Amino acid sequence: MDTVSTESDLDALRRAASAWAVVVSWAKHGLFEALAGGEAIRTEDLVANSDAIRNTAPVLAHLGLLIRHPQPDGSTAWALSNSAKRLLANGALPTHTAHGGFDDLSRLHTVLEHGGPIHDREGRSKITSGGVVTGDADQTRAFMEMLYRRSDESARVLAQLVKPWVPQGTALDLGGGHGRYGHELARNGLTVTLFDREVCCAIAKERYGDQIATLTGDFMTDDFEGPYDLILMSNIVHGLGPDELSSLLPRIRSALVPGGVLAIKDMFLDHTMARPESAALFGLSMLLYTSSGRSHTQFEMRQALERADFHDFDLVDLRDQRFTVILAR
Ligand SMILES: C[S@@+](CC[C@H](N)C(=O)[O-])C[C@H]1O[C@@H](n2cnc3c(N)ncnc32)[C@H](O)[C@@H]1O
Repeated sequence: MDTVSTESDLDALRRAASAWAVVVSWAKHGLFEALAGGEAIRTEDLVANSDAIRNTAPVLAHLGLLIRHPQPDGSTAWALSNSAKRLLANGALPTHTAHGGFDDLSRLHTVLEHGGPIHDREGRSKITSGGVVTGDADQTRAFMEMLYRRSDESARVLAQLVKPWVPQGTALDLGGGHGRYGHELARNGLTVTLFDREVCCAIAKERYGDQIATLTGDFMTDDFEGPYDLILMSNIVHGLGPDELSSLLPRIRSALVPGGVLAIKDMFLDHTMARPESAALFGLSMLLYTSSGRSHTQFEMRQALERADFHDFDLVDLRDQRFTVILAR
């Protein structure tokens, strides 16, 4: 993001937040879905207050999500742009559920007072286990779909990266979720086991069948068998606090063959704790939705790994994908 040094920089920040408020509010009212048919719909015919549409549609038009269709009688109709149609078709445009996250952000001050995770307006904790609420199958499925949709390229790049380190043998995809990362490793010739909650293993099985094996349980307490030549933790460590890492990493070390490799894919802060943007902002979600997750610094990760008896490290920054891979033996 741009740094803030003038009042107009602050205005730009406020405008971005306002624009996001419009996007999630339209989504909450199903207005993007109402336009999904492709036809332009007159302001008066959209199921919402006409003045509010008159004043919010230009924000979406400015973002390139809506196109104004002037009508012969002087009225205005709105249609989705091609980009918005594509985003909607891919499931990437926010839906009615996105407003909950926005509402949570508006109550971030309560977390500053009492600590995370955030509570909903009825006072219930919104804690997740790495983004997953095990009792909520719909939420889990939607979350897994989102991660799957976004992981096409990163899963391929990651598998390519670890291939020279572990050209053959067995791999554990710890907290593998939807299974796309594990499946890419399997496509590269490894025998892959995915460990996750039952609800996630079922989703991975639906997609990949016998191409990957699954083990269900809680990786903080349950045995994940082995030994493996490679253990992958993709988007896992940001969901864990320092104490959880201190307890988990030695168990991972003992589940590797001698010389086995641990690959950690995540977003890590550098020593300034100001960069990269992805890590700086993602820590906020971990504060809201996990017990002690955070964006760890590279230095903290190295120290935690050393304490768990890993000694040989390398780090790859995949800037275009906005993630980093730590390789440790
Ligand atoms: C953010 S998702 C990452 C999924 C996948 N690895 C990826 O990179 O897209 C975190 C995954 O870890 C799993 N997870 C978190 N805590 C867990 C625990 N204690 N035991 C088992 N699975 C856990 C969640 O169920 C979820 O599938």
